[in-house]
Amino acid sequence: MATPKKRSARKARSRSGTSARKPRARTTAPASASQLTACACVQDLEAIAKRRLSRAVYDYYAGGAEDEQTLTANREAFGRVFIRPRALVDVSRIDIATTALGTPIAMPVMVAPTAYQRMAHRDGELATARAAGEAGTIMVASTIATYSLEEIAKVATAPLWFQLYVQPDRSISRDLARRAEAAGYRALCLTVDTPQIGQRERDVRNQFALPRGIRMMNFEGNRSVMPRSSAGGSAFASYASSLLDPTLTWDAIAWLRGETKLPIVVKGIISGEDAALAVQAGAAAIVVSNHGGRQLDACEPTLAALPNVVEAAAGQVEVYLDGGVRRGTDVIKALALGARAVLVGRPVLWGLAAGGQAGVRRALEMLRAELVLAMTLAGCPSLRSLGPRTVVRA
Ligand SMILES: Cc1cc2nc3c(=O)[nH]c(=O)nc-3n(C[C@H](O)[C@H](O)[C@H](O)COP(=O)(O)O)c2cc1C
Repeated sequence: MATPKKRSARKARSRSGTSARKPRARTTAPASASQLTACACVQDLEAIAKRRLSRAVYDYYAGGAEDEQTLTANREAFGRVFIRPRALVDVSRIDIATTALGTPIAMPVMVAPTAYQRMAHRDGELATARAAGEAGTIMVASTIATYSLEEIAKVATAPLWFQLYVQPDRSISRDLARRAEAAGYRALCLTVDTPQIGQRERDVRNQFALPRGIRMMNFEGNRSVMPRSSAGGSAFASYASSLLDPTLTWDAIAWLRGETKLPIVVKGIISGEDAALAVQAGAAAIVVSNHGGRQLDACEPTLAALPNVVEAAAGQVEVYLDGGVRRGTDVIKALALGARAVLVGRPVLWGLAAGGQAGVRRALEMLRAELVLAMTLAGCPSLRSLGPRTVVRA
């Protein structure tokens, strides 16, 4: 039996994250319907997810690059913007329906692409797709999903977009783009902030690798399996380098446009200069994103970057934002500063880890309800009523 001394040493090791642990997919039973209902906000779902996931998996989802400055700053940027409510407006009906690239969505909140969802729940991306359908919004499926893009399309009841990493072997990316088009995906979301994987120090310490049996189902054979890193550190970081092409430039958009009829959404833009180049290259939309603080640490937070991008896009393409959106009031702030919609990454993963499809449904439902309430209290009955004068920087 472990003595108290040994137990506390083990605890200290696990807090410092220095011991290598095998990631396990799940630790306890999913949250019950009443536990999900008792969640007041998406942060409550994170608390349940944290209890259910192994340390290595929780850290992979939650973590950011290096000092996690950008991870924190994405949230803090929302804290520096305040809403100026209007009084005595008829708010008996609040309309939050909108469109993204012409596709109707029930609310201006979409599901960001996130990798490896089967680590959160065995139904992984299938549960997320079903829940996004229930919420009436678009899910962006990741290249490195743990169900294939065709399996996800089969269960989806709302439109899907497909996130693409352009790989050194372009034929692989071209085939993925074609498969997505054939499976009925409505747009390709090209991620451009990832010429290489950021240094995610939690993953290095945990020697993060995919739990056994979890594969990247868009690929076949050896490519679907993440080899353990022989050099130590994060196996994900070593594997992901093989998926990414550091020579990629703006020509890639022209190339991709030649390979597919789908509109191209460029994800990972922070500067106005790049927004202008994306428009010039023929992008249909832009996502202001720093990959949830997982790539360049000390990158500008997305809400701060948004106005420059909106100005440079000059109304020629739709602009969305992700990174740190956790509240309905955050959605108002982003839309007031010019975003057409936002995407959420981790809130969906916390919902999925807490309770599968029902958990994701709860995450999206709480964001929707908070948005409606905030618009009611702010005297903004429709998305059209949100503009630069809705918010003020403190
Ligand atoms: C665990 C995790 C995995 C991710 N995987 C991908 C991915 O495969 N492709 C991609 O373009 N972005 C990926 N992202 C970035 C998200 O699409 C999104 O930009 C980010 O999560 C938004 O920040 P938020 O989590 O604070 O909402 C991932 C993010 C997380 C947290």
